[in-house]
Amino acid sequence: MAEQYDVVIIGAGAAGLMCAATAGYRGASVLVLDHANKPGKKILMSGGGRCNFTNLNTTPAHFVSANPHFCKSALSRYTPWHFVELVERHGIKHVEKAPGQLFCADSSKAIVEMLLTECEWAGARVRLNTTVTHINDQPVGKPGSGRTEGGFTLRTNDGVVRAGKLVIASGGLSIPTMGASPFGYKVAEQFGLNVLPTRAALVPFTLQPADKAWLAELSGVSAEVRAEAGGRSFSEPMLITHRGLSGPAMLQVSAFWQAGADVTVDWLPMLADPYAALLEERKQHPNGTVERWLRSFFSQRLAAALVARFDWRGPLQHHANERLASIAAVLKGWRFKPSGTEGYRTAEVTLGGVDTGAVSSKTFEVKTVPGLYFIGEVLDVTGQLGGFNFQWAWASANALAETL
Ligand code: FDA
Repeated sequence: MAEQYDVVIIGAGAAGLMCAATAGYRGASVLVLDHANKPGKKILMSGGGRCNFTNLNTTPAHFVSANPHFCKSALSRYTPWHFVELVERHGIKHVEKAPGQLFCADSSKAIVEMLLTECEWAGARVRLNTTVTHINDQPVGKPGSGRTEGGFTLRTNDGVVRAGKLVIASGGLSIPTMGASPFGYKVAEQFGLNVLPTRAALVPFTLQPADKAWLAELSGVSAEVRAEAGGRSFSEPMLITHRGLSGPAMLQVSAFWQAGADVTVDWLPMLADPYAALLEERKQHPNGTVERWLRSFFSQRLAAALVARFDWRGPLQHHANERLASIAAVLKGWRFKPSGTEGYRTAEVTLGGVDTGAVSSKTFEVKTVPGLYFIGEVLDVTGQLGGFNFQWAWASANALAETL
């Protein structure tokens, strides 16, 4: 005899657990299936182990999607304050590390424990180490199972489960070692939905050999920069690593960068006119150097490396105005062409995914397949860095569950 549930959710991550608890409270019998051996693995590793679980300044403008309107309804119905209220009800201490960015004061474990407690209180069951091989007697991903009437039959490594409603919350492709898989995209294709091309985002850049040669020696050095790609710019710290360029500034622009394009770095976003500042510095300290001047903004290592790389040596009085203007231009708009990104191995999120055109923004139900739903990162909705992706997981899960 197959087990029977009102709602079966695939994926015990942020969206899946939130949906399970909310649906359970509304009286549905709920089962969550996950192939991993632990629930909420990405929550555990997020925010450096302290989970940046929301952003108080969340707006639809913080999300990238082929349909920028899709996220509006869910975000307005479940705001960051709803989640803060839940977190506080569970006595979880939190801190605002940057404006609007809320983190656990202690450990992200508290968020997973909170979600599991909510599931337990709501009567929702979570089953791990479970792989779904077939949906409606079709191997997962084989196109053509078409519309369904009266629910879904799932064949798993642990028996057959019948679901009145099937929710796909299996996330994106980033960090495969943490359980990420293309499961959700395969289910979408099985039911004839469009899946938009995916790529890694919120991810460090790798460098061409010439840039790597001078930057790799600076591994561990960071600077407050303004980075720009694809018409979007972010003033945040940049971190130089032995593989390339990382830190919030680079992760943010990676979501707007297209392969083959340049990234522009303003090394001195705090200075509106570095040329004027250099002219003044030459007047005040004619025997001074560009390196000495740069040390008032950067670490000694970075100042020295910039001077060596662009050959800005010598006393300032030997630099003509045109030379100072060209130094200022490089500092204001250094361009590099990444060789690529570190990819899904280290990316925080996946851009693209299940085309939102097929899904109701109110209920998250697939328009052509009654009873089938997609929530969270598996959809083509990607937040910027700063707690927005979890807010999307909570909001989309809640929007679905409250319509059950
Ligand atoms: P999520 O990935 O959380 O869950 C998907 C679940 O589905 C997983 O449990 C997985 O095992 C399961 N699954 C996958 N394939 C399956 C299959 N075939 N069968 C069964 N189960 C399957 N965001 C943010 O807002 N603040 C932050 O601080 C961070 N930090 C961060 C750090 C790092 C290192 C990463 C990788 C990501 C972040 N993020 C983040 C992004 C955030 O973690 C992500 O957007 C959400 O977890 C997405 O929630 P979902 O529930 O959609 O997927």
